Order: sequence, then structure tokens, then C-alpha cells
Amino acid sequence: MAKIKLLDPEAVSKIAAGEVIERPASVVKELVENSIDAGATKILVEVVDGGKRLIRVTDDGSGMDREDASIAFEKHATSKISGACDLDRISTLGFRGEALSSIASVAESVDMVTKARSSGVGVPGTRVRVEGGRVAEVGDAGVPAGTTVVVRGLFGEIPARRKYLKSGRAELARIAEVVTSYAVICHWISFELFSGERTVFKSVRSDSWNDSILRILGREVARNLVSIEAESKFVSVTGSVGRETVTRSSPDWIMTYVNGRLVRSRALIRAVAEGYRTLIPTGRHPVAVVSIRIDPAMVDANVHPAKTQVRFLKEEVVAAMVTDAVRAALMKEGRAEPPKTAEGPAPTDLFVPEGGTVAPAPGPGPVGPVVSGEVGTGGGSDPGGLVSDLQRTLPLYSGRGRLDLEIEAEPLPGGLRVLGQALCLYIVAEGPGGLVLVDQHAAAERVRYETLTKKYDAGTISQELIVPVTLELSPKEAVLLEEWGPTLEEMGFDVQPFGGNAYAVRAVPAIGVRLERTEAVHDVLRDLFALGRVGTEATAREEILKLLACRGSIKAGHDMGWKEMHDLLRGLFACDNPKTCPHGRPTSVTLSFAELEKIFGRR
Ligand SMILES: Nc1ncnc2c1ncn2[C@@H]1O[C@H](COP(=O)(O)OP(=O)(O)O)[C@@H](O)[C@H]1O
Ligand SMILES: [Mg+2]
Repeated sequence: MAKIKLLDPEAVSKIAAGEVIERPASVVKELVENSIDAGATKILVEVVDGGKRLIRVTDDGSGMDREDASIAFEKHATSKISGACDLDRISTLGFRGEALSSIASVAESVDMVTKARSSGVGVPGTRVRVEGGRVAEVGDAGVPAGTTVVVRGLFGEIPARRKYLKSGRAELARIAEVVTSYAVICHWISFELFSGERTVFKSVRSDSWNDSILRILGREVARNLVSIEAESKFVSVTGSVGRETVTRSSPDWIMTYVNGRLVRSRALIRAVAEGYRTLIPTGRHPVAVVSIRIDPAMVDANVHPAKTQVRFLKEEVVAAMVTDAVRAALMKEGRAEPPKTAEGPAPTDLFVPEGGTVAPAPGPGPVGPVVSGEVGTGGGSDPGGLVSDLQRTLPLYSGRGRLDLEIEAEPLPGGLRVLGQALCLYIVAEGPGGLVLVDQHAAAERVRYETLTKKYDAGTISQELIVPVTLELSPKEAVLLEEWGPTLEEMGFDVQPFGGNAYAVRAVPAIGVRLERTEAVHDVLRDLFALGRVGTEATAREEILKLLACRGSIKAGHDMGWKEMHDLLRGLFACDNPKTCPHGRPTSVTLSFAELEKIFGRR
């Protein structure tokens, strides 16, 4: 008996629609794109329960006449291209004629009212009701020119899809991201995002994107932006990119647009980051808004139904233009010289170690041996940063490479003796069992994690800041903050609204480093938000504690002094579970003397 069957058309359309409409934010994106294509100057997005219950998008664009409105929900109905050859010169955001039909097939109902701007006086607008993917009613509507689309019960009849949706606030955060991103690139349109009871975001039409950027990224970032520009025959690049002092822990703050379309192009993001090479440390990312205008024939937006990816015909050329433009703008600012290590901490070194004012100077630390005349120990007397480089390449053969008396007088538990640090990654020690290598970051994470857990259990995790820190949150982050409110409080944060998009942070978890700079606090919050999961039930709490432990810990690549190494090992020995880091990686390995003998053929 035949096993292969053809799917019925309804199933096919639901599967295809799933590629375009993944979640409420995809509906908002498609509807907003339609409004932009229709030449709107005002777009209002209203949602209830993160768009799961209701999404309403209203514009004052061209509208549709009765005939167009009646077929707009048909599959592949589009007024934007008329054949395959047009695919080469797409200048509108939409072109596949799939959005409205896809939305209709995954929502319980869609209502549209519209009136063509070009229609004569006295001609009524049109109301279209779609239920279960089929047009149920077309009639008159007394409305002004423009279009309103109301989507109710997204995935209402597709429980398998609905299950994947997050909480209302988490979905709202994604919607905020879509709306704010378009408010930047389409600055001639005023946008408003309204959720249930309040305005989440509002922009006013303006002749540049600066105003929207300020509303989204905050005053501090806006003040630190420089303009980039490049032009060739087929491509033009414009943008506002952050100075290298403004960095983030993820590349999410690099917004890229191609021909006015919001895209997540890895090539472009990489090209932007490349412009900052050597200026910002690995693991940190710049903030940037970059818009590419390119001959439509040289870019393919038809890579994926959601149209968030693009393919360039000459990707390397476009990427190089972006990188050069970023670099040139930073140079012009006189800032594209790599920061010198000897001039104190790199500007992006966000964490201030407890008990210190800035990151510890390279060298032996307070109890290390200072052997006069020897290279590489005198912290501070190394203007060119030469010595610290030397130490990085020859870590075991520097002035620190021997023990000092003070440390020997106070032996480490387990009969361990520190020999030095290798590659700024491992502590090298010898013990009764053999040669021991300790992964400094894994060990530090373990120590922090156990300390934090104990503090959490004892209810003493919160640490008041001497001077409260003020944060400017983007609309998306403000929504996430509400979502995370109780969890953050339980983890020791005290964050209160401070007017507009500003928030005052009065207390933070005692993660072992002093979170006293705005960016450091902001980073921790962003990392938490990125976990995506909220709650203080055991697993979520553990995950948060792990993240905080990681944040506060000595990093790989950190040049450790003697005292620091000893303190870390003592801390590790005092742990309940010293063998692994909180993520399960080993903290140390021992090469036994027997193994060493075997390796060297002594036995
Ligand atoms: N807000 C709107 N204002 C005017 N026309 C619209 C609007 N939304 C949709 N339309 C019309 O409906 C058609 C179908 O929309 P859609 O399914 O999103 O496909 P596409 O945008 O790819 O053409 C559009 O081509 C356009 O003619
Ligand atoms: Mg469309």
C-alpha cells in the first residue's frame, strides 16, 4: 500500500505560512512593512498580551480600493511585482505576496478596513473579514484613507505552534525590537507602539535617524556616535557607529539595513566588527546602525520567506567598504590607535576588582618578588606596554618565576606549590601527586558560584551601591525589565524607574567585582535578559547564579599576580565541589610523576 500521500492544500498553506510567521513579532514586521510600502507617514501598532491575543496596525498610507482589498488575502497576491523578471529590481519591502495570506491562515480571524487615498469623495472604504484563512465578508466601511489590519488569536488553532510562544512580555520585547528598528531607518514616519495599557515606544517624524537612535539607545550612546559614509557606483553606505569606548557583550546592537529593509546579515555584522579590530577586546561588540543602499540587481532578498537575510552579488566588496568606512570614521576621530596597556585599563575593562581601584597592574602583585634590574616586574614603569607583552609570550621565565618567602611561609593546602602562570590561562603548580594545571577562569567561576549560592541561600546576595547608577534602557529592555522584575529583586538587584527611559540601580548582586559602572550593570542585565527564561525556580536560579559567577570571575587572558593565584587556589580548595566549574568543565588536571617519567622515558 502506498505510504506517500499528497498533503491537502490547507496543511500545505499552514506549513508554508509558518516560514513567514513564526511569532507575533513576525506579524508586526510584515504589517509594518506593508504600511511603509504604502507610503504611510504614521504607523500605530497596538498589541494585547504580546500580540498573542490581538495585533492592530493602523497606517495613513495609500490604502486599497475594493477590488484590491478583496484579493489582498489571496496567496501570492501582490501589487509590488508582476513577474519573475521584476525580482531583480525589488525596491519595496514586500514582494512575495505571502504575508497577508500567511497571517490569515495562522490566525483565528483577521479584519481589515481600508480606503484608497485616490478614491473619490463619498466612496466608502472597504471592510474585509477573514476567518480560518478564508474571506468571510466584504462590505462598506466609513473610514479615512489608510489601512488598519487586526489580527486575533495567533496560532489559536495550532497548539503545537502556540506552545513555542513565550510570555506576553517576552513577545512584546521582540515586537518592540521590530518597531524601533524600523523607526530608525524610516525616520520620516512617526511610529507608536502601544501595549494593552501603555505606550512602549513613540517616535516623531524627523529628517534624520538621530532622534530615533537617541530614544532607543539612550543619550550616552547617542553622544558617542560618529557618522560613517562611503559611496561607489553601485553601493552607498551610511551609518552611525559607536566610538570604541561604547561596547556591548553581544553583537545584537549592530543594526543593519539593506535598501531600507531590516536584515540580520552576518557578513555585514562581521564587516562592522572588523572596523573595530584591535580597538575593542575580543568578546566585546560595537554599537552601530549601518544602512546600505545597493542596486537591487546586486542583492537577493529572496533567500528566505521571512526576508530577514540577503545575499550580495559582491559580498567582499560591500564588506570591505563597510569596514573601511567604519575605520576611517574612527580614525578621523583620532581614536583608531590601539589603546596602550600601560595607560591603565583598556576603556572597555568594565569590572573593577574588589579591593582595587582599577584592573590590577601586570606584574607580581603586592607580595610578589621585586628583583631590581630584572625585566618584567616593575608594575607601572613600562610605558610602551612592552614588558607585559613579553610576559605574555614568556610567562614562565619572568621575574615572577620564583617563589617569594612570604608565600612559602604560608603554604597552600594539599601541599601545593605555585610555579607560575602559563599563557595567561593556567596556573602551573606542583603537588604531592604531580604537576598540576589549573584553569584560572574555571576555578574562579567555581569559587564565585559557591560563594554566590551561599549568599543567596543566606539572603545576603544584595549589595548596595555607594553611588546609585543610572541606566538608559531601550524600549525592548524596559519591557524585559518588567518581565524580570521579581527575579532581579530576588537576585539582589534594586532597579527603579527614574523618568523616561532612565532607571536607577541602587543595589546589585555581590558578585565579587564592584559593579559600579553603568555599562557593567547594563551588561549583566543584558546577559540575564538574553537567558530568555525567567523565574526563580531551582533551575532558572541556578542558571542565573552561574551567569553571575561567570561575570564576576577572573577571565582567561588575565595576567595574574602571585597573591591572586594563591588566593584563587585557596578559594578552590575551600569549595564543596572543587573539581569542576559550574558548567561541568574540569578546573584542574594533574600530570602524575609516574606519567612524567613515562613521557621522558625514565622508566
Ligand atoms: N497597509 C497597506 N496599505 C496598502 N496596501 C496594502 C497594505 N497591506 C497590504 N497591501 C496590499 O496587499 C498586497 C499583499 O500584501 P502582502 O501579502 O504583504 O504581500 P506583499 O507585501 O509581498 O506584496 C500588497 O502587495 C499591497 O498591494
Ligand atoms: Mg507585505
